[in-house]
Amino acid sequence: MRRAALTAAALTGALALTGCSGSGSGSGSGKADLSVSSPYMPQPVSADMAAGFLTITNDGGAKDELTSVTSDVAGEVTMHSTAGGAMKERASFSIPAHGRLVFRSGGDHLMFEKLKRKPRQGQTVTVKLGFAEAGPLTVEMPVKSATYNPSTGH
Ligand code: CU
Repeated sequence: MRRAALTAAALTGALALTGCSGSGSGSGSGKADLSVSSPYMPQPVSADMAAGFLTITNDGGAKDELTSVTSDVAGEVTMHSTAGGAMKERASFSIPAHGRLVFRSGGDHLMFEKLKRKPRQGQTVTVKLGFAEAGPLTVEMPVKSATYNPSTGH
């Protein structure tokens, strides 16, 4: 009895996920459901390079991968991980199911290179994120002061 009830609940959960994601892939494990929050770029000190930060949240039941980043202000945007104070370019970052990928100051970050113009505080830059599974997301990333700290908002 108890076991049957649990199974029914699990099935209902799976059906709800499939219904939510639209076109069912048939994998049975759900799909990634991605959203972006807290994007910002500190106004760069350099004329040809800037850093960018954001959080990608996955509310879906399957993992996905961030595989490309482009922007209107940069000739190239690369993804870097930071470990032991050294940064390393990465081709992709995984976004776990029901998890998130956080780019933050002092940690993993986006690097805007070959800047076409120098972003200034108060402006917005457009960033397009490409994923292994999900469709692309476009983010309007505000340019903050060079010393902006998201936890204080200054
Ligand atoms: Cu870097």
